[in-house]
Amino acid sequence: MRHFLSINDIDSLSNWVAEAKTLKEDPTRFHKLGRGKTLCLLFFNNSLRTRLSTQKAAMNLGLEVMVMNFGNEGWALEFGDGTIMDRGTSEHVKEAAKVVSQYCDIIGIRAFAGLSDKEKDEAELVLNGFKKYARVPILNMESSVGHPLQALADAITLTEQSIKPRPKVVLSWAPHPKALPHAVPNSFVQMMRLRDADFVITHPKGYELNSAITKGVQVEYDQKKALENADFVYVKNWSSYGDYGKVLSQDANWMMTQAKLGKAKFMHCLPVRRNVVVEDVVLDGSQSLVIEQANNRTYAAQVVLKKILEAN
Ligand code: CP
Repeated sequence: MRHFLSINDIDSLSNWVAEAKTLKEDPTRFHKLGRGKTLCLLFFNNSLRTRLSTQKAAMNLGLEVMVMNFGNEGWALEFGDGTIMDRGTSEHVKEAAKVVSQYCDIIGIRAFAGLSDKEKDEAELVLNGFKKYARVPILNMESSVGHPLQALADAITLTEQSIKPRPKVVLSWAPHPKALPHAVPNSFVQMMRLRDADFVITHPKGYELNSAITKGVQVEYDQKKALENADFVYVKNWSSYGDYGKVLSQDANWMMTQAKLGKAKFMHCLPVRRNVVVEDVVLDGSQSLVIEQANNRTYAAQVVLKKILEAN
């Protein structure tokens, strides 16, 4: 069974990006592929882009779509083995995953990190629970540790916007009042490792990402130095990984400004807090790629769904 759980499920990034670009030119070309099949999207957390772009991608392929806000409306699920369920959880993933599998052909899941227990988050209880017990392929719509649909969309955007074969791409941490997960930067780093680029990560000390993911990638603690001659600046907040889930700094000096951006293109996965993460003039200016990144979420989801349908 072909699942799409992480960037590691992409066998050739350049081929997938090329296929996504072809789909973008003629989105309904394969509208018969999903005929008579159903995609079920389970949201344990909020979404705008993922929810709508994945539905749009499915519709382009002729799939029917069912969406459930599991976090608010579903029974509280249990994931532990042998648990005496006399507390808050009402239904075990063993039954839930098998039941949902009877109603659809692919299950999409969004389940963020809780950011209080690193071991639990890295076990990916929701995603792996459904993977273990479902009888249909699973699509990761952002899990505790990865957001591969976003990273694939970002790869499409970088390819479309690059005028150099080897651009300089900087992943720059930004301040944020809330503790945010590591899923987006993790998958962006994993994706960048599959591309030819001069890639640099910059963040304050204490914000090092999981070294298993960043191994071999240049980290520059001086943001100004990191941004020199950048072609693309991907801005994102994340909480501390070492001091797990903590906000160690809200230093406004790390906010992206037009002066710092220079001539580089600005990228962010959205949603973004204006004048905290990035100043208005950048988002409103012609160097911002955020709307096109969101547009490419449809074609990233479409290429993934197409491959799942073809393989199963
Ligand atoms: N970038 C992204 O995943 O957006 P949503 O959280 O709105 O789906």
